[in-house]
Amino acid sequence: MRKAAVTGHPIGHSKSPLIHGYWLKQHGIEGSYIAQDVPPEIAENFYRSLPEHGFVGCNVTIPNKEIAYNAATKLDDAAKMIGAVNTLWLDEDGVLNGSNTDGLGFLGNLDQMQPNWDNNGNKAVVLGAGGASRAIIWALLKREYTEVYIANRTLEKAQKLASHFGPKTIAISWDKLGETLGEVDFLVNTTSLGMSGQPELGLNLDNLSKSAVVTDIVYSPLQTNLLHVAEERGNPTVDGLGMLLHQAVPGFEKWFGVRPEVTTELRRIILKEM
Ligand code: ATR
Repeated sequence: MRKAAVTGHPIGHSKSPLIHGYWLKQHGIEGSYIAQDVPPEIAENFYRSLPEHGFVGCNVTIPNKEIAYNAATKLDDAAKMIGAVNTLWLDEDGVLNGSNTDGLGFLGNLDQMQPNWDNNGNKAVVLGAGGASRAIIWALLKREYTEVYIANRTLEKAQKLASHFGPKTIAISWDKLGETLGEVDFLVNTTSLGMSGQPELGLNLDNLSKSAVVTDIVYSPLQTNLLHVAEERGNPTVDGLGMLLHQAVPGFEKWFGVRPEVTTELRRIILKEM
């Protein structure tokens, strides 16, 4: 029986066992997917000896994503550019491969919920400059966005990301956001602002074109204030729950050999558990 896991520390709140458990059952696969607490002190050794622990692969979450990046023998382009690994698997030669599927999850969600979202234009604003922001910038560049503005409370972090990703990415200060919004076709929030228990983003969208697609990686609440305000003024919006579901797809396919679907039933199941 093939066994996979989500690993991190702490790990109790992860939704991943529900997602993969749903797909295992749906496809009648005799496998298992569990939550495994892996403290950072032992993480590198753990990832290097997955088969000895009985796993064909695993997901990696906070605080182990950089550790998994170092543990993997082979990294794909996403992992290299994002600088963190959230999915590990052993290939047919037993080599430990690492990927970061957050960017693909972001794209999968938009493609499903707002097809042709990227036919609007090629200019985007990304709010935030943390780990999630890196994955999303990678994804937007992959879809051939040519001007990706990064706005962050701490400007230096946005500047660091812009120099990492090259000339198509431009760091802007938070104060410049208003005027930049007037030029773009796509807006994404990757900060924790707007999440339950966190302050609101409180962004003025007056300058944003009504055809610009607005999305948030925050999914609790499902409709953040940003999405509410955008929807009220007529912008197409996409919530963040699908990114969580779609980022799980490549791992399941690697470990269990079937490419699973993100269904509305799966969305409902996960929503009920939030
Ligand atoms: P993740 O991996 O989810 O991206 P992270 O790496 O901790 O998380 O990044 C959090 C992001 O949210 C950062 O861009 C952070 O801004 P700073 O770089 O200035 O810290 C942003 N963020 C978090 N709390 C914020 C707040 N109260 N106001 C503005 N930005 C905030």
